[in-house]
Amino acid sequence: MENVDGRVAVITGGASGIGLGFARTFGAAGMKIMLGDIEEASLATAAAELSGSGYDVGTFVVDVTDAAAVDAFADATYAQFGGAHLLCNNAGVVERHDVWGSLEDWKWVIDVDMWGVIHGMHSFIPRMREAGGPGHIVNTASTAGLLGFPGISSYVAAKHAVVGMSQSLFHEFAMEGSPLGVSVLCPGVVDTQINSSTRNRPGVDPSTVDDNKFEGWQELLTPEQVAEVVLAAVRERQFWILPHEHYGEQALANAQGRIEKSDPVMPRVNR
Ligand SMILES: NC(=O)c1ccc[n+]([C@@H]2O[C@H](COP(=O)([O-])OP(=O)(O)OC[C@H]3O[C@@H](n4cnc5c(N)ncnc54)[C@H](O)[C@@H]3O)[C@@H](O)[C@H]2O)c1
Repeated sequence: MENVDGRVAVITGGASGIGLGFARTFGAAGMKIMLGDIEEASLATAAAELSGSGYDVGTFVVDVTDAAAVDAFADATYAQFGGAHLLCNNAGVVERHDVWGSLEDWKWVIDVDMWGVIHGMHSFIPRMREAGGPGHIVNTASTAGLLGFPGISSYVAAKHAVVGMSQSLFHEFAMEGSPLGVSVLCPGVVDTQINSSTRNRPGVDPSTVDDNKFEGWQELLTPEQVAEVVLAAVRERQFWILPHEHYGEQALANAQGRIEKSDPVMPRVNR
């Protein structure tokens, strides 16, 4: 979608981190912004900042694990802006546990990170198809969608699912000659609140959760740096978005192992 000016960007997880970076960058490019997030107070803060910058902003409190709530989010988007052109299924959480760990951990992460993306596509794509474009979907996965990081297997499983279904969607759009495009975003380490994800876990008191950032990590990018890469990819209809290039080589080596029958590649993070 080369021309984004005046078009509507819908961003789940838009109140913080990468989603808020999208909103700032897309707003500066002339887009109208619809933010969805589970954190009502952060949404209000984000909206105040963005409208202070002169952008046209709407907000909606939504839990992406709830299909009906995401449908209501789509209704609110179409009611406010009359359309949706750039859908960013971005809300996500992480929890540390072993593969044999708590099923509650598994379920929460899969619910947000996999089902959240499915719900976004299910609620918005039929309307975007009906409108006949232009439009583009960006699904936020991770390098954990390309490689098997230890200690976060539910996250790895959900993000591999996001990478897989985004490829299916690419082919489905291509087969029907759709004007809609799709990209999958696979970042490495980005300066956000992801390490305090449990603040949004049902039953958890957010004031008990530490704010644990990736401070000083060598490969750390800002959300706005990632958003610039994403916007360029949307304009060019580029599917794969890997803002941290060294992971592309690791993903390739990992895939090569399938032919060479070697062990999975241990992911290397530049700390
Ligand atoms: N930060 C990184 O290093 C990194 C790397 C790769 C991928 N990602 C992905 O980027 C995306 C954005 O995360 P971030 O790093 O900006 O973290 P973040 O915690 O700063 O932002 C995530 C946002 O999602 C929202 N959210 C959480 N659960 C929700 C739910 N059930 N419904 C609606 N909103 C919900 C949060 O309130 C928050 O605003 C995630 O999908 C994450 O997996 C992050």
